[in-house]
Amino acid sequence: MESNIVWHNASVLTEDYRTKNGHHSGVIWLTGLSGSGKSSIANLVNKHLYEKKVNSYLLDGDNVRHGLNADLGFKAEDRKENIRRIGEVAKLFAESGTIVLTAFISPYQEDRNQVRNILEQGDFLEVHVDCPLSECEVRDPKGLYEKARSGEIKGFTGIDSPYEVPESPEIVLRTHEFSEEDCAAQLISLLENKGWI
Ligand code: PPS
Repeated sequence: MESNIVWHNASVLTEDYRTKNGHHSGVIWLTGLSGSGKSSIANLVNKHLYEKKVNSYLLDGDNVRHGLNADLGFKAEDRKENIRRIGEVAKLFAESGTIVLTAFISPYQEDRNQVRNILEQGDFLEVHVDCPLSECEVRDPKGLYEKARSGEIKGFTGIDSPYEVPESPEIVLRTHEFSEEDCAAQLISLLENKGWI
């Protein structure tokens, strides 16, 4: 890191924003295979929070890769850097008093742990959006699994690139057993039980 850079202490603290907003802030990190339902659930929860006048925001995989991370592909180093940057951005949102939802495959446990570790204890919720690969392949909403199976896309998560199942997530949402609405409700209950909202 450049040695002439000095950290500025903020005059308004995270606790001040939380007090003003009347709720906790932190990062809700949804991880799972492509097609598992991350974005749909994150959108439903975000809508619910918005309607309850909670300050929330959703950082979504495809969208972030169009802008902030447009220079990154899907090699392991690129995925790592993708998650590192998103983690840093999510941390800034959390510090501003916002509940930020993220919806990225984030296939490596080490990278997810790294994000957890840059946040204050208790401000990071790892959410495993769990769906068997076979079911994701049937859903194939973007036709990407078909392309991966035919070899048109190389290094696709679950096919020829790994997905490390979360070791100890705060919650597992099983989208092949429950509807997206039910999964969103389960996540909202967790936020209520933890006193975030
Ligand atoms: S990662 O692994 O966290 O960096 O991936 P992420 O930023 O979430 O981007 C995943 C979306 O990119 C599309 N896509 C691929 N996914 C996995 N592997 C490969 N090779 C790939 N190429 C493109 C895919 O649409 C993912 O979207 P979701 O919403 O997860 O289906």
